[in-house]
Amino acid sequence: MPTAALDLKEAILQLKKERNAVILAHNYQTGDIQDLADYVGDSLGLAYKAKETDADVICFCGVHFMAETAKIVNPSKTVVLPDRDAGCSLEESCPGPELEAFLEANKEKNYYVIAYINCSAHVKALCDVICTSGNAVRIVEQAPADRPILFVPDANLGAWVMQQTGRKMDLWQGSCYVHVEFTRDSINQIKAEYPDALVVAHPECTEAVRLLADEVCSTEKMVTFCKEAPVENIIVVTESGMLHRLRKEAPDKNLIAGPTDRCACADCRFMKMNTLEKLHDCLDKLEPRVELPEDLRARAEAPLLRMLEQSR
Ligand code: 13P
Ligand code: SF4
Repeated sequence: MPTAALDLKEAILQLKKERNAVILAHNYQTGDIQDLADYVGDSLGLAYKAKETDADVICFCGVHFMAETAKIVNPSKTVVLPDRDAGCSLEESCPGPELEAFLEANKEKNYYVIAYINCSAHVKALCDVICTSGNAVRIVEQAPADRPILFVPDANLGAWVMQQTGRKMDLWQGSCYVHVEFTRDSINQIKAEYPDALVVAHPECTEAVRLLADEVCSTEKMVTFCKEAPVENIIVVTESGMLHRLRKEAPDKNLIAGPTDRCACADCRFMKMNTLEKLHDCLDKLEPRVELPEDLRARAEAPLLRMLEQSR
């Protein structure tokens, strides 16, 4: 490895110590960031870790809504992220003022609002409970039976949860721009090459793709699935960063990146905004920092805490 890269890693670890920081990284981060992190996981695992940490600084390598969630559940900590512009197409698809206007216009329905964690603090504050892909089925099963459910913002995850639970929900029409790129044709082409391969897909994929999958699950559950699968070849239909974690944890498996029609490997441009250099700088300057007005934070915290309680 070039000395400059080694120096940078050492400098990051040194700063981490000086700041008493914990580095939390999502499964879609680049391999070099994952390898430096104290914990790598899915949105649910990361939310628990953020809440439980006793470090002074949470350095969140993921996208903005994830770092914001860390600040909401653990407000006394300094929360920084390498790139403030690391957004999410799902978050963008459901602006807070639009949801607020929709709920006002549909007041008589008395919706029980469930928000996928991929949304802003404003949207969280308007909801009854939050869910992640790892606990969405459990959360929907615990929703009051006598109220209609509005599920925001991911229509694909929502449709999958409806199929799993048999519970009807009204779905906000948001989507993840990465996961909707996978197609049946592109996956079938790989299956033709590896006829015995199993397919694991994220629930943000379209129904056509989910129907081809042997398992539909969160990124964390993909690790268990790949470790335990009774076959060597597994087609992994999610963002490319996942392959790094899977190859480390299931080294005996041939893990094949699910291709889209346009490229062999799907990168989330937001997740990939983070680099080792930016990670170093944010630990050095403790910027960019996540800050939230206290009333908004407190309103967004209630449905997140409900989620954490309901998914234990
Ligand atoms: P997970 O919670 O399954 O890691 O999903 C997060 C995400 O952003 C998927 O695109
Ligand atoms: Fe958002 Fe999709 Fe990127 Fe996940 S992969 S952070 S849902 S844009």
